[in-house]
Amino acid sequence: MQKVSNRLGFCAIYDRQIMDNEIIPHSRPSLSGQDVEAVISVIKSGQLSQGPKVTEFEKRVSEFIGKKRAVATSSGTAALHLALLALDIQKGDEVIIPSFVCSAVLNAVNYTGATPSIADIDPLTFNISVNAVKRAINSKTKAIIVPYMFGCPAEIDEFLELGIPVVEDCAQAIGADFKGRKVGSFGLMSVFSFYATKLLTSGEGGMVLSDSEDLISKIENLRDYDDRDDYTLRFNYKMMDIQASLGMSQLSSLEKFISRRREIAERYFKEFKDRNFSLPIRKEEKEHIYYRFIVKAREDASSYLEALQARKVMCRRPVYIPLHVYLNLSGFPNTMEAWQKTISIPLYPSLTEKEIKKIVDVVKEIL
Ligand SMILES: Cc1ncc(COP(=O)(O)O)c(C=O)c1O
Repeated sequence: MQKVSNRLGFCAIYDRQIMDNEIIPHSRPSLSGQDVEAVISVIKSGQLSQGPKVTEFEKRVSEFIGKKRAVATSSGTAALHLALLALDIQKGDEVIIPSFVCSAVLNAVNYTGATPSIADIDPLTFNISVNAVKRAINSKTKAIIVPYMFGCPAEIDEFLELGIPVVEDCAQAIGADFKGRKVGSFGLMSVFSFYATKLLTSGEGGMVLSDSEDLISKIENLRDYDDRDDYTLRFNYKMMDIQASLGMSQLSSLEKFISRRREIAERYFKEFKDRNFSLPIRKEEKEHIYYRFIVKAREDASSYLEALQARKVMCRRPVYIPLHVYLNLSGFPNTMEAWQKTISIPLYPSLTEKEIKKIVDVVKEIL
């Protein structure tokens, strides 16, 4: 096992040799010795599944975000599913979601039997467009899911004014601010993902936050099935104490992770200015946490992606396939343009200085 430390002391721990000419992955977790200890201590305690560490993690995240209550889940998708069920969303209802997002969001709506209503995006932030949402609202609309794409907060106040329950999807933006408050503190509910390559990881995992005791107790009731007096359809969507312990250890590094992301983003802004592609939107200080660094080429990104890969810098389309394409729908010009032309360039705290330099050189050469 080899450790590679960057100058801030984050370690990426691998079970393989790191060579100078090795592939730079598109994303990679930032793990430290403290994270390893956190997991080992839980294993030694013998309490592997949901227990006191999960309760503590829920408390820590809700305090950090500024919501009264939290329920940890097995994934961000499970968190979204339970949030929709707590709103009694079912067949015949509609839930508005963006097209430019991963299919987990579509799955969560489909699990409930409700109809997903797909909206186009804002071409500058890549977040769901408030005007497209307004056009999609009808008498069946029961909720709007607003994912903060790539670490960039949406104008959440404009969605809240529409008078329909808003679920903030903070899977890609934990720790970002909007107008001086943490994202995830605005909507009726907010959901998080702690998947391996997210800003803060528990391996797999998720969470729902809300100020509503009623919604939270519905979600807690649905999350697991054991020792219940009545029978109703319930799930096994529990987080394990092992995951929660890792999550808490990561949460204690989150501010450091975010400053490092901003530092790398500044470097990219400086190195890539005046080039033949557009850079991410600049937000107020603390409002963008650069979960991804998305650039937009003048034409289709395919040949650039291949060339970058050949030079061992793994860049990706930021969304694999937009939802309206899966569903064979037309009329999403901003999503289509973003899908065809955008490229996500590696940006994460465990990048070494050497790797950053290589990314900068290769991107300048190819793009
Ligand atoms: C915006 C968004 N919402 C929800 C999810 C689902 O999270 P998970 O993979 O933990 O189920 C993701 C996952 O990447 C996501 O990016």
